[in-house]
Amino acid sequence: MLVLPKGLRHIPGHLDRAAQERLVDAIRGVVAQAPFYRPEMPRTGKPLSVRMTNCGELGWVTDRAGYRYQPHHPVTGEPWPPIPDMLMDLWREFCPEARPPQACLVNFYDVTAKMGLHQDRDEQDLTAPVLSVSLGDACLFRIGGTERGQPTRSFRLESGDIVVLGGPSRLLFHGVDRIYPTTSALLRDGGRINLTLRRVTA
Ligand code: SIN
Ligand code: FE2
Repeated sequence: MLVLPKGLRHIPGHLDRAAQERLVDAIRGVVAQAPFYRPEMPRTGKPLSVRMTNCGELGWVTDRAGYRYQPHHPVTGEPWPPIPDMLMDLWREFCPEARPPQACLVNFYDVTAKMGLHQDRDEQDLTAPVLSVSLGDACLFRIGGTERGQPTRSFRLESGDIVVLGGPSRLLFHGVDRIYPTTSALLRDGGRINLTLRRVTA
């Protein structure tokens, strides 16, 4: 058995296929209003391999100017659409003590995309957990310690899985090493969507 750090929860297969389909439909609605854009690394402007959009009153964005939360889409200038009810329900279920989420980052990974090890620390409120939902192709998720260079381990996340980073695990380094192509038929053209819900302001 894999023993996870305290405060890190992995709930495999929490959403069944029907719930995953409903959530994908809701996300299609979000993307119709707030299209995926290609985020860039601060300073260098090097594009990330993941495409991003957001819903909620705030969205996490990154470009040459840096990492930040802002209330509007960086390309269209429009406000982000609201967080779908299904996600608000998951937050109430898994993060009952936290105030409501303000941001939901929507990441799309094509089968070649990955995400380097990082901490989620652009939020003022670090007491609220980060809740993430995986949809589509499986990935190899890596988790480390609270400092870069500490040992890491990896495990697979499948469509419908939920991960909660809370309490002493809130600031653990994490990333996505790779996507496993054709491991899910949920998304017609393959790839993986990850949704992360966060409380931002203190
Ligand atoms: C993230 O850390 O923003 C994404 C994590 C994931 O894709 O599972
Ligand atoms: Fe993250």
